[in-house]
Amino acid sequence: MGKRKAKQTRILHSDYRPPERFAAFPPPTYRASTVLFDTPASLRARDWRSRDAYTYGLHGTPTTFTLESQIAAIEGGEYCILAPSGLAAITLVDFAFLRAGDAALIPENVYGPNRELGDWLASDFDISVRYYDPLIGEGIADLICPNTRLVWTEAPGSVTMEVPDIPSICRAAHEKGAIVALDNTWSAGLGFDAFAHGVDVSLQALTKYHSGGSDLLMGALITREESLHHRIGLAHMRLGMGIGADDAYQVLRSLSTMSMRYRQHGESGMAVAQWLGTCPQVSLVLHPALPDCPGHALYQRDFTAPGGLFSFLFHPRYTEQQTDRFIEALQLFKLGFSWGGVHSLCVPYRIHAGRKDWQHRDKQLLRLYIGLEAVDDLIDDLAQAFRVMDAAPGAP
Ligand SMILES: Cc1ncc(COP(=O)(O)O)c(C=O)c1O
Repeated sequence: MGKRKAKQTRILHSDYRPPERFAAFPPPTYRASTVLFDTPASLRARDWRSRDAYTYGLHGTPTTFTLESQIAAIEGGEYCILAPSGLAAITLVDFAFLRAGDAALIPENVYGPNRELGDWLASDFDISVRYYDPLIGEGIADLICPNTRLVWTEAPGSVTMEVPDIPSICRAAHEKGAIVALDNTWSAGLGFDAFAHGVDVSLQALTKYHSGGSDLLMGALITREESLHHRIGLAHMRLGMGIGADDAYQVLRSLSTMSMRYRQHGESGMAVAQWLGTCPQVSLVLHPALPDCPGHALYQRDFTAPGGLFSFLFHPRYTEQQTDRFIEALQLFKLGFSWGGVHSLCVPYRIHAGRKDWQHRDKQLLRLYIGLEAVDDLIDDLAQAFRVMDAAPGAP
């Protein structure tokens, strides 16, 4: 027996080995930056890309590999890479597939920061970025140039809710050698089958329904083709976009209830949207499952279930000041960005001034997210806020 080690050392090096065959439902939460190797040879031989072993916390742990495989399974994909936020996942797509001299197409109604990133790529990275009408359908073929590598889509647009013709866009892009990335967050991968409709890369902001708790940020990129997965993996490694084990655990915990939550958000959302359609204060309800929403026929053709996110336009007789009174009077609907949690939310949006396809500049838009509160209580809340707005000074 050698010399007994100092307490300071013994504290750091435990001989305890827990018994094997522990079984429980929750996946273990492995927190790690450093991963240990048995020999120098095994360290040198380890390929960070391989999902069969571990190299470093950034490249994966049993916890993150479990979450990746679950997310891929929900979407019917083969591969998944996690990112620290939905926006980080958007950034990974651009850095994985675009280089100086390439061109990208982005829909006019895209999630705002995706557009912001597109503008930055155009101004500082020598990438040509063109914004297109989300309802363009197969007409997109005319916009695809020999150097177009990437076509972004979002289904539906998460503020103005147009439903694009994803199969037509994918056909046109593939014929000309471009890949199609879809921000599929609205449907959580449950209400729209990205790969069955031709998409190459499906993006989820796991911050929304997958987390369900309004308490963390995470994104995911799901693919079926190994070569695409590898390019995203390389960008992920180069940009160092790791995620924390505890956040991964929280998402795994919430996933088990996601399909039931999604169904309820969708049903309650439909009920509230239909009621809003009967209100004289409302000029248009932008809900993909309702006939007045642009692209509704495509929703009916391609989607299987709605989510809880939609928008409506106030009658043009109301000013922003008056609709702000409405928002301030709401009690159950809280004012804040993001969605996918259990609480109802609202956000007033000013539509991007550069959008040539947007016809409703004379009307105020409010985006609603329908939580898990009772539908009658939500409708009562909206109804009392309409009364407050109508009674406000200067109201029509
Ligand atoms: C449609 C859509 N995509 C992506 C994101 C980005 O997700 P995150 O907030 O995790 O960055 C959002 C966030 O609101 C979103 O609404």
